[in-house]
Amino acid sequence: MVDALPNPQFEPRTLDSGRRLFAGPADFVLGAVELNQLPAGDLPEITFAGRSNVGKSSLINALTGRKALARTSVTPGRTQEINFFRLGNRLMISDLPGYGYAKAPKGKVDTWTQLIKDYLRGRPNLRRALVLIDSRHGIKDNDRHIMALLDDAAVNYQLIMTKADKIKPGELTRTHATVATEAKSHVAAHPNVLVTSSTEGWGIPEVQAALSELALTE
Ligand code: GTP
Ligand code: MG
Repeated sequence: MVDALPNPQFEPRTLDSGRRLFAGPADFVLGAVELNQLPAGDLPEITFAGRSNVGKSSLINALTGRKALARTSVTPGRTQEINFFRLGNRLMISDLPGYGYAKAPKGKVDTWTQLIKDYLRGRPNLRRALVLIDSRHGIKDNDRHIMALLDDAAVNYQLIMTKADKIKPGELTRTHATVATEAKSHVAAHPNVLVTSSTEGWGIPEVQAALSELALTE
């Protein structure tokens, strides 16, 4: 199955530097509920965005090999603030609240959505947003809104398919092709759409490798 994933080949050297980056220290910095609480922007920063329950926090845990660095939940709406994690002196990672969670109180949803949008538009050290897409569902309209916002703000982003273990390989290949075609029509989107499963570890070395290219060197 792993061999059948439609992920690009990375150079062994890049895979190795990705592995080393995520094997180093990974520490929780703070959780911000307002923009004025963000940590200093002195490191290149990567953020994990996506619909509620898509697997943002789980992917951060899988990448860092720490089971509970970022809090996850079967209930959507787990992450309620922007949580920052620091990989040594090399890279800052942020875990966003999910968007599109219809069951949360409207006031809360509006506050989160505004916080996410302000953060994505106004963080000078943000090097790339990873926009996570559930392999079972493909790109939804609220993903398109975030993609359009990132296009407008000229923030680079990369689509990452999650929960690949939940669907059959043939279906995965088809959804990947559809998602990649749509990514290519967006100016700020990275042409490579990576496929992952946090539970199976699929695609984790590739995401580590892609992020290591944005981190400060050792
Ligand atoms: P919010 O913080 O609520 O926006 O959610 P999130 O995007 O951070 O999702 P989270 O990581 O909390 O995961 C949501 C649920 O999906 C949990 O029950 C996870 O165990 C499950 N999950 C996440 N990734 C995977 C995966 O790759 N495969 C499978 N099978 N389940 C996954
Ligand atoms: Mg979360």
